[in-house]
Amino acid sequence: MIGTTVTKIQTEIGSGRDIVLRANGLFKRFGTLEAVKGVSFELHRGEVFGFLGPNGAGKSTTVGMILGLIAPTAGSVEIFGVKQDGNRWNELRRVGAIIEEPAFYPYLSGWDNLEVLAISIGDIPRSKITEVLERVNLLDRAKDQYGHYSMGMKQRLGIASTLLRSPELIILDEPTNGLDPAGTKEIRDLIPQLALENRAVLLCSHLLHEVEMVCSRVAIIKQGVIIANAPIKELLSRGNQLQIKVDKMEEAKAILGNLPWIKSVTREDDHLVIDVPQDRSADVNLALTEKGIRVSELFNRSTSLESVFLQLTGGAAGD
Ligand SMILES: Nc1ncnc2c1ncn2[C@@H]1O[C@H](COP(=O)(O)OP(=O)(O)OP(=O)(O)O)[C@@H](O)[C@H]1O
Ligand SMILES: [Mg+2]
Repeated sequence: MIGTTVTKIQTEIGSGRDIVLRANGLFKRFGTLEAVKGVSFELHRGEVFGFLGPNGAGKSTTVGMILGLIAPTAGSVEIFGVKQDGNRWNELRRVGAIIEEPAFYPYLSGWDNLEVLAISIGDIPRSKITEVLERVNLLDRAKDQYGHYSMGMKQRLGIASTLLRSPELIILDEPTNGLDPAGTKEIRDLIPQLALENRAVLLCSHLLHEVEMVCSRVAIIKQGVIIANAPIKELLSRGNQLQIKVDKMEEAKAILGNLPWIKSVTREDDHLVIDVPQDRSADVNLALTEKGIRVSELFNRSTSLESVFLQLTGGAAGD
C-alpha cells in the first residue's frame, strides 16, 4: 500500500515542480553553538520530504525557523514563493505543523476537541470535522474521550487538527516519537496519504527506516549541515553494491581495483563485492570479460538507507 502511494507521489513530483517551501542558507547560533550552518532546500507539491539526521543535528531548529518560532541568525524562508520575515507570515496560515505532542482537552471527545478548534479558527463547517477524522481513521472513535486515546490515536487526532485548515504544507517533527509499533505503523501509513491532493509534507525524523518507508526525497543533516539531498531511489542507488562470482578472483580484484569509477572491491568467501553505481553493472562485466575473466554470477545487492547514511556520515548513525 505504502509502496504504491510513494510511487504515485514520485510520479507527481516529476510532473509539477511547484515549490512550496524554500530554505535559503538558514543559520542559527545559540551562544557559541552553531546549531544550523547554512541549510538550504526546496520542497515541492506532492512530495514527502524526509529531513533526516541524528539527535541534535539541527532538524527542530530548522523547523522552528521555517515556522517563525526561532529567529534565524542568517538566511531566509520562502513559503509559497513569498519571503517570510518579521511582518509577513501570512503564508503560515496555509501550513499545518505538529512539532510536539498536540495539546487537547482530556475530558472532551476527539470530535469535541476538533469542534473547539474549528470554532476558534472560524469558518470551518462540521462536515470538515467528519472529513478530517475519517482521513486519519478516527471517525469510529470520535465520540470517545481524548484522555482514553492511545498514543497513536492522540497523534492522529493532532494530524486531523492540522488538516482542519486544509493546509498545503504539513510539517511533522518526529511524529512517531514515543509510539509503540502499532501506533508507529498507523502514523506511517497515514503520511504518504497526506501528500496526495497536491500537498507537501516535511517529515523530520532520526529514524532511517521510517524515512526510507514513507519519503520520496530525503535531505540528510549532520551537525547543522546538509550532507545529502536527493530522491530516495537515487540515494539508495549511490550505496549500490554488486556481487559477482568469477573464475580468477585475485586477477579480477586487481583489474576492478584500477577502474576509477569503482569505489572499492572486497573479497567475501567465494565472491567479490564491488561498490559501484547501479548503472555500471554491465561495464563491470565488460571490463572483466575483455581481460579473459569469466563472470558466472552478477547481481545488485539491495541497499538500505542505513548503509548509505553510514557511508555519508562516516558511521554517525543516530539510532
Ligand atoms: N534554545 C536553544 N538553546 C541552546 N541550544 C539549543 C536550543 N535549541 C536547540 N539547541 C541545540 O541545537 C542543536 C540542534 O538541536 P535540534 O533540536 O535542532 O536537533 P534535532 O536534529 O531536532 O535533534 P532531535 O533528533 O534530538 O530532535 C543541539 O545541540 C541542541 O542542544
Ligand atoms: Mg528535534
